[in-house]
Amino acid sequence: MRPPPSPPLLPLLLLLVLLPSPPAVAAAAGPTSLEALRAAAGRRAASPATQERAAAGVLRRLLPSHALSFRFQIDPKGGVCGDSSCFRISNVDGSSKGGAEILIQGNTAVELASGLHWYLKYWCGVHISWDKTGGAQLASVPSPGSLPRVKGTGVKVERPVPWNYYQNVVTSSYSFVWWDWRRWEKEIDWMALQGINLPLAFTGQEAVWQKVFKSFNVTDRDLDDFFGGPAFLAWARMGNLHAWGGPLSQNWLDQQLALQKKILSRMIELGMVPVLPSFSGNVPVAFKKLFPSASITRLGEWNTVDGNPRWCCTYILDPSDALFIDVGQAFIKQQMKEYGDITSIYNCDTFNENTPPTNEPAYISSLGSAIYQAMSRGNKDAVWLMQGWLFYSDAAFWKESQMKALLHSVPIGKMMVLDLFADVKPIWQTSSQFYGVPYIWLVLACAWRE
Ligand SMILES: *[C@@H]1O[C@H](CO)[C@@H](O)[C@H](O)[C@H]1NC(C)=O
Repeated sequence: MRPPPSPPLLPLLLLLVLLPSPPAVAAAAGPTSLEALRAAAGRRAASPATQERAAAGVLRRLLPSHALSFRFQIDPKGGVCGDSSCFRISNVDGSSKGGAEILIQGNTAVELASGLHWYLKYWCGVHISWDKTGGAQLASVPSPGSLPRVKGTGVKVERPVPWNYYQNVVTSSYSFVWWDWRRWEKEIDWMALQGINLPLAFTGQEAVWQKVFKSFNVTDRDLDDFFGGPAFLAWARMGNLHAWGGPLSQNWLDQQLALQKKILSRMIELGMVPVLPSFSGNVPVAFKKLFPSASITRLGEWNTVDGNPRWCCTYILDPSDALFIDVGQAFIKQQMKEYGDITSIYNCDTFNENTPPTNEPAYISSLGSAIYQAMSRGNKDAVWLMQGWLFYSDAAFWKESQMKALLHSVPIGKMMVLDLFADVKPIWQTSSQFYGVPYIWLVLACAWRE
């Protein structure tokens, strides 16, 4: 079998930081849109007690010998952090032998875990990274009872930007799809220690799509021709190919959905805001027969196996078709049914490495607006998180008018863009900062599997 079609999309993903709206944008977007987002996340957050337990769980798994040496405390009233996100590390005075020596306070469990990491790194000389870049090196931590004290009243670190995002949509297929819960648990602990609070949560979405598409009378056989195999899910999800490497067994679909529920529960306990997938218009070919009057466009050839239509050239439902919003809304609702009302942030990448059927701004804008409408009818707080990769990979197509058409197709504040390759090919510089749409500045870290 050929290696996976190698899209220029690089594997791992890192990323950081939502830029605080620059002044020009602040006027348009208003800091209120970001505050609204934070408030929506806050309403869905796990209780302080749950988050304190979750942070203690990270410590227990990382450094069981010191499970009692730290005390974690969520600061829900803002006494420590005020309006910002922060952690504070201080000494516990007069603690009994074997008791807590260091108190870490913060407004979410992610802040508590990243405070723990900060302390271990800067007071104990610890290094914590992925296994391939050194893993967790903890031998320098002094024994319980002799942990270094922090100076004075302690140290407080504030988050300079609200969101630390993590992952690339293709990492699902490059790496995560092979992981069991143990491996996921380790990764989520790592995320919390690094302060990541906005991770993608894409596992198991085919099981949700299966239920949604069945409700539109698509059969399992039709879906066998639609979903990609495990190593290719990402590209099938983006409409780059179909069926290649499949089909997916029911057992596998069910198992992935169960895994996703565990992943989401842990993310929520840690105070993270998981990013769920949403509908981009990509439909099984069966839709053409089931809905003969629907407006469905066949996309061109991507990099698929010899351009064979058995795998290539997927179908996209036109945003002007009422069915588009029905399907998109049904998908959001089905996710809510499976997972509960846990997030308001949804990823959607339309035309990732696929050229749209027309460069007409009105078409692009109607597509964007339909995507957002489908999301917001399923979840009124919905915010669309979109990769800006297409503006880089297909720069010849995405000129100012096409970019503006897409970026301004939803109210300012209801979309965030990922400037995925910002350390090398920053789009924010050539697009007047995404024409006023809030964006996240990212580093694309490459870590091919051997
Ligand atoms: C599915 O098929 C049934 C039976 O033919 C029909 O009543 C129903 O309207 C169809 N559902 C959709 C969403 O088209």
